[in-house]
Amino acid sequence: MSNLQIITGDITKIPADAIVNAANTQLSGGGGVDGAIHQAAGNQELQAACQKLHGCPTGEAKVTPAFNLPAHIIIHTVGPIWHGGGYHEAQLLQACYRHSLMQATTHHCQTVLFPSISTGVYRYPLAQAALLAVKTILQFPAALAVTMVCFDSSTLQAYQEAFQQITSS
Ligand code: APR
Repeated sequence: MSNLQIITGDITKIPADAIVNAANTQLSGGGGVDGAIHQAAGNQELQAACQKLHGCPTGEAKVTPAFNLPAHIIIHTVGPIWHGGGYHEAQLLQACYRHSLMQATTHHCQTVLFPSISTGVYRYPLAQAALLAVKTILQFPAALAVTMVCFDSSTLQAYQEAFQQITSS
């Protein structure tokens, strides 16, 4: 069983073995947490490493070095764009968390940081995303120390409520 901590903060400032990025299918960098991670890691080096991976399908996860970030690796995963819920969004979001955690174990990581995947530009409803994320992390069968790094107080509240709901049922 994985262990989950939920905090607010800037994911680029927190030391860990692995940091998960909410990327796009081209792995080309962007705004939001993706932009912050590229900037803090070092735009040019990370861009070059991402180019060698030839993109990443939605729901999958690929790894680069973390360069200037206080981490060993970056796990780039691509969340689904919310189109109303009838386009396998939940399955794809769950796959993002699962595949990222699998990459963390493959790369012998013990501590992993996640941002709230898909709940920014990709518009996945926050409460639903939080429930799915917390459930998938807690059910993952490896002894990882996972931290959900929430950028704002409404995201923090959603993940705390999801955690309470899941652990009290
Ligand atoms: N640390 C932690 N979380 C952050 C940070 C940060 N430094 N910066 C932003 N966030 C939060 C946002 O507030 C949001 O809660 O990350 C969450 C995810 O939002 P987005 O970054 O918009 O990610 P997503 O919805 O998955 O959209 C991905 O955005 O920038 C593009 O290239 C990216 O196309 C892709 C899309």
